[in-house]
Amino acid sequence: MAIFGYSDIFLFILAIIFLCVWRSKSWRKSSVPTNWPLVGMLPAVLQNCHRIHAYVTELLSECGGTFEFKGPWFCNMDMLITSDPANIHHIFSRNFSNYPKGPEFRKIFEILGDGIFNADFELWELHRRTTLSFMSHVKFYDLLERAVWEKVETGLLPVLEHFLKQGIDADLQDIFQRFTFDSICKLVLDCDPCSLCIDLPYIPCEKAFNEALEALLHRHVLPESIWKLQKWLQIGKEKKLMEAWKAFDEFIYPRITFKDDFSLLTAFRKAYEEMNGSSSDARYFLRDTALSLMLAGRDTTSTCLTWLFWLIAKNPSTKIKIREEIENELPLKDDKKWRFFNVEESRRLVYLHGALCEALRLFPPVALEHKSPVKPDILPSGNYLQLNTKIIVSFYSTGRMERVWGKDCLKFMPERWISPCGGIKHEPSYKFPAFNAGPRTCLGKEMAFIQMKMVAATIVYHYNIELVDDHPVSPRDSVILQAKHGLRVRLSKRNV
Ligand code: HEM
Repeated sequence: MAIFGYSDIFLFILAIIFLCVWRSKSWRKSSVPTNWPLVGMLPAVLQNCHRIHAYVTELLSECGGTFEFKGPWFCNMDMLITSDPANIHHIFSRNFSNYPKGPEFRKIFEILGDGIFNADFELWELHRRTTLSFMSHVKFYDLLERAVWEKVETGLLPVLEHFLKQGIDADLQDIFQRFTFDSICKLVLDCDPCSLCIDLPYIPCEKAFNEALEALLHRHVLPESIWKLQKWLQIGKEKKLMEAWKAFDEFIYPRITFKDDFSLLTAFRKAYEEMNGSSSDARYFLRDTALSLMLAGRDTTSTCLTWLFWLIAKNPSTKIKIREEIENELPLKDDKKWRFFNVEESRRLVYLHGALCEALRLFPPVALEHKSPVKPDILPSGNYLQLNTKIIVSFYSTGRMERVWGKDCLKFMPERWISPCGGIKHEPSYKFPAFNAGPRTCLGKEMAFIQMKMVAATIVYHYNIELVDDHPVSPRDSVILQAKHGLRVRLSKRNV
């Protein structure tokens, strides 16, 4: 009979973790974690779990941009964490073929199935080709302009007016999430679930994104065996993830229809049939495709708008400059009650573009990426990578590195993005990776800027926005960098 049972060993390890957390708390000032026997550097991660992005940024700043993390010996959690632009350029562009998404990524993001985010090689090429050809079609920007303006007119403005008349605080993040959810459903599924209306209805699929994203971050920081056990037992975040999965399926499957020739799903069905020679199982593939694009379109854009309005409220001079730009660049042609900003006009708002780039630099909605080499490699930082080494690339930290963005890196300065001749200054994507870098660069970048500018210009032009005192605003622990408790604001009408 063994002297120690599993429960004794488990308790022993817990005691060591507790001791390490307690001692490191009382002794250390540096962010660099101690590598403890058995549990490695896990105690530091657990201790900083509630502020993981900020902690990683402190750690990387102290270590020159790259750090080798040692996990507990029994968990396969060793990983290299980096925010170094030279490494980003190497991994995402120069040696792209050595860093496919791979099985580890797919394991974590299994909920997205065969959608573009999980796909590699031919399947990824099919997704990319089909999405790109849809988005570069002449009809696409008309469709987008109509979808965004209809949502502004029938959803956003009535809801903001309702809050204003009632004199109650509004959660701007919730409003933006509903806005982008309705808009992306219109583009991807050709249906409008009308989640943005004055009753603010509860739509399980719309809320399921938040739960799913939080659970997915936990899969990055917990040992695989632990989250798999939670999944098997159906407890904690894994239970929430399964509920979100069900909500997605119940929403998407009944909406897979082919009403129009110019529709994303029709384009994907054709592409799928060409690849497989038949349409059997196409429904699963179309569900994965739709969910991935809904995730891409809802959370990134709404998160960026949320941080933009938080930053503007904290830096009121930018609000004045955005209004001046609108008035100088786009003089009023009529005296309609509401101003409408179309696609063409949005492209002329350079200062607003700079403000959005700053929001994306300081709060990149996709805060980290997960990579792994299929062949051993050496990074420009000199770190040797064995086959399948886990790499976490922190885009959040890249935007906040003094060595990358200078001494004022933590300041919100839209002017940073304006070139001497008044256009938008180009920054290489490895220095500004909010939209990813290399061949897997975001396909919705242009669309996102247009949509965000149409929404932001409308709100800044018509309303004054004040933050509600004492409402805490900090990044949520999620793979998308939402504001943890939303963004509570008070609205008042601007006298135009
Ligand atoms: C502020 C808004 C947005 C940001 C910051 C953003 C950022 C990103 C990032 C970081 C990736 C790489 C993800 C990965 O490979 O794991 C990505 C990929 C992608 N994005 Fe966006 N995105 C935004 C808006 C959109 C929108 C509105 C769409 C349209 C539906 C979109 C469609 C896509 C697609 C299809 C990919 C996959 C590209 C590929 O793997 O080849 N994105 N985006």
